[in-house]
Amino acid sequence: MAEKQGYRHFMLKEIYEQKQAIQETLLGRLDRDTYSVSFEHFNFEEKYLKNINRIFLVACGTAYHACLIGKFLLEDHLKIPCEVDIGSEFRYRNPPIDRDTLLIAISQSGETADTLAALREAKKKGAKTAAICNVLGSTITREVDGVVYTHAGPEIGVASTKAFTSQLTALYLITLNMGILRESIDLAEAKNFTKELARIPLMVKNILDKEIKNIKEISHKYSKKTDFLYLGRNINYPIALEGALKLKEISYIHAEGYPAGEMKHGPIALIDEDLPVVVIANKSAVYEKILSNIEEVKARDGKVIAIATEGDQKIKELADDVIYVPETLDIFTPILNTIPLQLISYYIARNLGCDIDQPRNLAKSVTVE
Ligand code: G6P
Repeated sequence: MAEKQGYRHFMLKEIYEQKQAIQETLLGRLDRDTYSVSFEHFNFEEKYLKNINRIFLVACGTAYHACLIGKFLLEDHLKIPCEVDIGSEFRYRNPPIDRDTLLIAISQSGETADTLAALREAKKKGAKTAAICNVLGSTITREVDGVVYTHAGPEIGVASTKAFTSQLTALYLITLNMGILRESIDLAEAKNFTKELARIPLMVKNILDKEIKNIKEISHKYSKKTDFLYLGRNINYPIALEGALKLKEISYIHAEGYPAGEMKHGPIALIDEDLPVVVIANKSAVYEKILSNIEEVKARDGKVIAIATEGDQKIKELADDVIYVPETLDIFTPILNTIPLQLISYYIARNLGCDIDQPRNLAKSVTVE
């Protein structure tokens, strides 16, 4: 109990530590006066960074979802083609790699066998390699050319929470750092990016302060359901995958994450009054599209739990339940949306009496292939 500092589970403690974890990952790197980023261990030659022609992002589990978001960030802001691979798939598909390829491995532990194997494969083929990792001196960090450590602190709960939002934070920092260097991000954009990124930790705290009671009630209401669907679009599509994974991992409830636009090609067949659908519906470029997805679910009697932007009243008329997150730039919404989804999983699993910190059949770090 002392180790958990009064929290019932490590997972809940770690969810609450996210404001701090994100702050620590930004600390000493994001310069709020010059709107730039500096790293200690991610110091590739300028010439190399300017010449990169392709980036691979590789990971397993939750870290893989961070990679999917990384693709949106890096392609949009650096204009470098970017591919995302699951560790165990990368090594068997033989993608073209050369000296101007960068592979970024993302891993909380730095020990995941499949991620490590992918990294070694890329090195063998001549790529430069980097890691986003939470554990100092871990195997992956010792084998790469550059590391951005997430300073999230030890993560004990098997289901990853604060490590994930810190991985996203590290990806924002890499995007800004490389974007400035490659001149694909100008000063005005860097300023906007920096100012908003610096506000994210406080926004995370706001969600925890304001929405916890609402989230507990919603979780209670849906605890007995046996299947869940999670929908998101664009940069929040990977967050739908992460929300579904979190629920599966700790509550053993069947859940699927889908890009909302793909609903009509399959999952729509499952919708009835027994299927809760968690929809990520922030005010964004794809807001109207998401509203029509919600209408499609409602027309088939599905129950909609929406994650929406503070102040959005319209969504209240459409959805059965709404959880609000603060307004920010589209690119930073994935971090904010993650918090309620972690909490929904946590409270549903708790209502069901599951072993939250040590879910059956899962390991914190998988060191076998
Ligand atoms: C296991 C854990 C997950 C984690 C994944 C990757 O499956 O249960 O929570 O996301 O491994 O671990 P890594 O340490 O490489 O991030």
